[in-house]
Amino acid sequence: MNNTNNIKKKIRAGIIGITGYSGLEVFKILERHPHITSIDLFSSSRAGEHISSSYPMYFDKDYILQEINFAYMEKNLDVLFIATPKGISTKLIEDLKDLDLKIIDLSGDLRLKDQQDIIKWYNIEKPSSQEIRSHIAYGICEFNEKQIATSKIVANTGCYALTSILCLSPLYVKNKHMENALIDKKHVIVDAKSGVSGAGKTPTNTTIYGNVNENFSIYKVSTHQHIPEIEQHLSIISNSEDYQYNQHVQDNKIPAITFAPHLVPMMKGIMVTCHVQLENDGISLEEIHRIYQDQYKNSPFVRIRPLGNFPQTKEVLNTNYCDISLNLDLRTNRLIIVGVIDNLIKGASGNAVQNMNIMFSLPQTSGLKHI
Ligand SMILES: NC(=O)c1ccc[n+]([C@@H]2O[C@H](COP(=O)([O-])OP(=O)(O)OC[C@H]3O[C@@H](n4cnc5c(N)ncnc54)[C@H](OP(=O)(O)O)[C@@H]3O)[C@@H](O)[C@H]2O)c1
Repeated sequence: MNNTNNIKKKIRAGIIGITGYSGLEVFKILERHPHITSIDLFSSSRAGEHISSSYPMYFDKDYILQEINFAYMEKNLDVLFIATPKGISTKLIEDLKDLDLKIIDLSGDLRLKDQQDIIKWYNIEKPSSQEIRSHIAYGICEFNEKQIATSKIVANTGCYALTSILCLSPLYVKNKHMENALIDKKHVIVDAKSGVSGAGKTPTNTTIYGNVNENFSIYKVSTHQHIPEIEQHLSIISNSEDYQYNQHVQDNKIPAITFAPHLVPMMKGIMVTCHVQLENDGISLEEIHRIYQDQYKNSPFVRIRPLGNFPQTKEVLNTNYCDISLNLDLRTNRLIIVGVIDNLIKGASGNAVQNMNIMFSLPQTSGLKHI
């Protein structure tokens, strides 16, 4: 798994899972990316068909969906995006890991460092080995740029996980300003809401129109697979170097969160509301606001709203932004952090392309500012 981090300005890309929601969004961004010279589209279900059989609006484009072919990929691609349901990239990566190309996996298969966590939270019986996992960078561009830049394989973040991580991380990063007012890490609540596209295109009883329309429901309460992903990242940036999720839970060292996801009757968008208890009243909202601004001052896609200005999902729709607002309830001394993203862009395809930009030493904003 040698990493070849050459600075390449002409990039040949491929997408597995083009007929899915995230695969299509990756395609749309890459089509307008200034450094992409070709895009190969791979489909497990529609190989041999013209792209218009899946997307009629592309009747005038020149793309035929292809069978997954590793030899072809090695010869013709510099980067491959995998946008498939859970369990697929676990198998694909066995063949892909030694090919001379970079890989960005949008699924959750490769995000957790500990194999046991994948078995427990994703119900994948035979996860990729610890050896493969140790070479994979977690694709949170705002915190992991160096590792992403030198890795051959990147595990793109989950959509809920990314929003929660961006909302909470400034409170966990070691920070001299926060020493006066540490948060109570045992009582962090993340209340999350997503549009229906978060579940992918295959309809289920939960996601069919009749159940989503004019409805608001909660699901996977305290069992959502993004919980360990959020905790893993918070643990790492809190400087727990010997990260092992299960051990940390036992030792009560893990920055555990309570996570409750909801389904809202809209197509796209995520809003995450985090409730965090401050340990004392030694810090003002204005100071915390400055810490957040400072944390993300070099992150082109994280915008900290002015105090009193709360974001709505529609305001970041079709963009790669995560907008964050802060509020301090002085009666309870609880900090409320609100973050919004487009789940298919910053939560999936846009973040994946941002990762690609880092891997190829391009500006993070390349091909992403126009969307
Ligand atoms: N939806 C979101 O908001 C979101 C956000 C972040 C991450 N993700 C993750 O990204 C991945 C894709 O999500 P999605 O929502 O785009 O899913 P999706 O709409 O269900 O599409 C998945 C695509 O994967 C391909 N596929 C299915 N079975 C396959 C197989 N056995 N081998 C190869 N390809 C197969 C299919 O395309 P072909 O028939 O063309 O092969 C299918 O269209 C998932 O792991 C998801 O958890 C999704």
